[in-house]
Amino acid sequence: MDFTSAAGAGVEDSVAFANLVSRRSLLLAGGGAIAGMAFPVGRGWADTVERNLVAGPGRIALAGEDYPKTVVWCYSGSVPGPEIRLRQGDRVRVVIENRLPEDTTIHWHGVRVPSAMDGAPYVTQPPIQPKASFTYEFTAPDAGTYWYHPHDHSSEQVGRGLMGAFIVEETSPLKVDRDIVWVLGDWRLKEDASIAGGFDNPMEMSMAGRIGNTVTINGRVADRFTVRSGERIRLRLINAAPARIFGLEFKGHSPLVIALDGQPIEPHTPAGGRVVLGPAMRADLVLDMMGEPGRSAAVIDTFYEGLSYKLVELRYSNEPPLRTQLPAPTKLPLNTMPEPDIANAQRHDVTLTGGMMGGMRMGGGMGGMMGNGGMRGMMTGGSMWAINGVAMPDDDMAHMKPVLTLARGKSYVLAIDNQTAWYHPIHLHGHSFRVITRNGKPTRYREWRDTVLIPPRERAEIAFVADNPGDWMFHCHILDHQEGGMMSIIRVT
Ligand code: C2O
Ligand code: CU
Repeated sequence: MDFTSAAGAGVEDSVAFANLVSRRSLLLAGGGAIAGMAFPVGRGWADTVERNLVAGPGRIALAGEDYPKTVVWCYSGSVPGPEIRLRQGDRVRVVIENRLPEDTTIHWHGVRVPSAMDGAPYVTQPPIQPKASFTYEFTAPDAGTYWYHPHDHSSEQVGRGLMGAFIVEETSPLKVDRDIVWVLGDWRLKEDASIAGGFDNPMEMSMAGRIGNTVTINGRVADRFTVRSGERIRLRLINAAPARIFGLEFKGHSPLVIALDGQPIEPHTPAGGRVVLGPAMRADLVLDMMGEPGRSAAVIDTFYEGLSYKLVELRYSNEPPLRTQLPAPTKLPLNTMPEPDIANAQRHDVTLTGGMMGGMRMGGGMGGMMGNGGMRGMMTGGSMWAINGVAMPDDDMAHMKPVLTLARGKSYVLAIDNQTAWYHPIHLHGHSFRVITRNGKPTRYREWRDTVLIPPRERAEIAFVADNPGDWMFHCHILDHQEGGMMSIIRVT
């Protein structure tokens, strides 16, 4: 299958890069001329983007034409769900109708929404019952690449296909030929391409989580992605997999990372040329296609040792090069997070414990397990993992007390210590934070993120201003770990 058609916009031709403007900036320029001024973010007359989504069953050709279609759960009949794209400062109103056989919610991952719109069942809203609807409405304060997904029965609902891209454009977007989104999915399919059952398997839950056997780009197994020599692509990668970590290498190309988790970062080549994305994490890349017409280059995933595979092939068309040189990309404008005062920040230690150890022992000991759900917890995985010794039983957020209570407007440093034998992508709702150290050493870019991937037995410090009042979920985004107890609440009052 040629992937270009699925990915949207075709190749822009015969336009000199210097003259390249997106339709959006043309519109803006037009409006600006009339108003005679620039448009600051947060102007009084932002647009409202309205969408209706239906969460329910669908049939998708995930594995390609040679296989039967896969019965999935999805938004409005497609995987990923309809892309929601707005401009920084716009409002969005999404009415979601639940046609699933069970409760659901939508969480707007990484978007700094008010608490009531955050989609944490029992904590910020009652779960949306089957046949019921709910309206989410909020302003997107920051530009960037985000995504939406359910926050109820997360492992199964995301694992069956409920995911979608949420893109907030800068008020003056980066000049590129194409702005492409790849929602990366990971599925466990049977021979007939149907989704294997056995979600929430305790053994898997206590290890790396449910890693699948089929990786998709925008809901299908992709073999090639057509590019044109000389074009510049902004590639927005979203890891929407329930458990799989990606480490992507673009053979013969050197992508520049310009944003992580939606937040601008000093443009740089990633360590070892590999873009690592834990579950829920995003990266915006500038990819200059400087290969010759007719050539091909592989994108390979080398994250798990000995299990590398080709994700997709970049296939150059035979068209003549669009140009032979490209200037360095301009930097993205900063978003609106307040800068934490690290010198005067209050520090808190956060320990991650639990899971299978090398010798197949359960971490945390019997004490931890009996203290929170006992055998039942152990059988269902409800207390396999813990944050500061506390496990959220059975993904049940109704009765959870906050592990930390923070004062609104104050700066905090959380020192997260992964004492387990497994990777954990740790996500905080309602905020973005800077990753300031790893294993005691300052990070090079002090990157803003909403999800930090912490390797086994490693530590990371994150810093942020607790400026968004409410109860915020703080959890591992390997969804089996989340449901196995590695979830807590941080309260901002
Ligand atoms: Cu993307 Cu609490 O999740
Ligand atoms: Cu985890």
